[in-house]
Amino acid sequence: MKTLHDLEFSGKKVLVRVDFNVPMNEEGHITDDLRIRSVLPTLNYLAAEKARVIICTHMGRPKGQRVEKYSLAPVAHHLSQLLGKPVPLASDCIGPDVQTAVAAMADGDFLLLENLRFHAEEEKNDPEFSRQLASLADVYINDAFAVSHRAHASVEGVTHHIKEKAAGFLLQKEIEYFHRSIDDPQRPLVAIVGGAKVSGKLEALQNMLNKVDKMIIGGAMANTFLKSQGYNMGASKVEDDLLATADGLLRTAREKGIKIYLPVDVIAADGFAPDAVCKQVTIQDIPEGWMALDIGPASVIYFNEALAEAKTIVWNGPMGAFEMNAFARGTMALAHTVAASHALSVTGGGDSNAAITLSGEAANISYMSTGGGAFLELMEGKTLPGIKALD
Ligand code: 3PG
Repeated sequence: MKTLHDLEFSGKKVLVRVDFNVPMNEEGHITDDLRIRSVLPTLNYLAAEKARVIICTHMGRPKGQRVEKYSLAPVAHHLSQLLGKPVPLASDCIGPDVQTAVAAMADGDFLLLENLRFHAEEEKNDPEFSRQLASLADVYINDAFAVSHRAHASVEGVTHHIKEKAAGFLLQKEIEYFHRSIDDPQRPLVAIVGGAKVSGKLEALQNMLNKVDKMIIGGAMANTFLKSQGYNMGASKVEDDLLATADGLLRTAREKGIKIYLPVDVIAADGFAPDAVCKQVTIQDIPEGWMALDIGPASVIYFNEALAEAKTIVWNGPMGAFEMNAFARGTMALAHTVAASHALSVTGGGDSNAAITLSGEAANISYMSTGGGAFLELMEGKTLPGIKALD
């Protein structure tokens, strides 16, 4: 795979696919700009190399319609502040107006194309749409790790129509950290897997059992594992159809000699609400009608033990309903442990990254991946189409 240093950019039109699918509040303000800041090295490099930098991205899921709340206007404004240069927003991502805007660019200029997903052809990986996108530029750069698991026109199709293509600095860095943390890690490798559902992470759990030395399972998904071992989980969220699967995973781990750490106590509540009555109980003592919403302090100590000797830590998914203060302590405690560890620590997924940011430890994590679904697909052992297309 080529990287930016392998190509010449001076005077060339360069189409850069980024993932600026960033969270926004009701007022249209960006609430987390990690994905935008992460691409600045690539954008600054291209401009310094005198490229004409045409940036394209999707935002949300507008389903092929022009939906104003998914316009990239706030992103263009924010990006221009970060770059300290104007970033005009084109009215569309293909068509005569865009061609005119591109033709007017000077070396070192930026142009942001409007949301790719305003065209249904983007997600269909339509060849004609891919060709039209490609016709805007001489060189294609993929710096959109977070959407590289989608075989979409701007990620995959376009690469068939532009000869010169390469990975941007962010994509390169994501691949490198994936390699160092999952493919060829320093051992022991400890994975922390949490979040709401076993079903969404089944393949990742199965594949990671071939990679890790120890695995910590927390969050609501731990309930299914605990129930599969005979614990009464009260009114906790459990995927009953996956009890046999969860039990099978635990058995596979035992056969492989991989220790799985499940919560030994939880914060149980009488409802899923910030003001619910809650108490700390062992997993044997969850009251009927109550639900486990966070790991308890004994679990934190137990999980810390698993992390103590780790040389590599991969973390995906929170330990509880951390968005409510009453159920954030377990996730925050683990964030502090991971941050204080000398291990290489790599985290991925919107919830894990949001939790780490909330804990104030973002600067102490070795690498926070910008990928959600893409990070999970790497954990599942899959090859991402956007990365394959650059080979
Ligand atoms: C993400 O946020 O994970 C990426 O931007 C991909 O978005 P999608 O799940 O809507 O394809």
